[in-house]
Amino acid sequence: MKHNPLRWWLLLTIGSFIILFSFCDSSESYSVSFSQDIMPIFSNKCHQCHLSESGSFGNLNLSSYESLMSGNSTHGIDLVVPGSADQSLLYESVATNEQTVLPWRMPQGGPYLSAVQIQLIEDWINGGAKDN
Ligand code: HEC
Repeated sequence: MKHNPLRWWLLLTIGSFIILFSFCDSSESYSVSFSQDIMPIFSNKCHQCHLSESGSFGNLNLSSYESLMSGNSTHGIDLVVPGSADQSLLYESVATNEQTVLPWRMPQGGPYLSAVQIQLIEDWINGGAKDN
């Protein structure tokens, strides 16, 4: 069978489209969803201690977006500063063992969040901490 030059053109065209599309995809950053990405972390890892405003757990209620965003830190540091994870106690509390504010890394006593979960919280706050 004789090679048909048209076939090569077709292949080349399709190939360039695939490359083009994969570039488009990576430039559009994934936006973290509060209800689908963040809330499940809270229910699995935080709710056993942080479901009400009363108690010895820093008065932190993580049962809803509203309760989180209206929550006052007992440490004089904002829980969530939209756009700035590194100024948000919520992020600081789970991200590192070197606690400057809290006596313990959260969740208290561990097991701590996975790198992926910590990243989700960071991206969610840096993305504006939206109720999405
Ligand atoms: C086993 C219980 C326990 C679990 C689980 C837990 N915490 Fe805590 N948390 C505490 C206690 C106790 C305090 C109070 C420490 C203090 O403020 O001195 C606290 C305080 C905090 C504070 C500071 C609140 C304030 O008033 O400034 C934040 C933020 C926090 N926790 C986040 C989390 C997050 C996020 C999770 C889940 C990933 C979590 N915690 C899971 C026990 C827990």
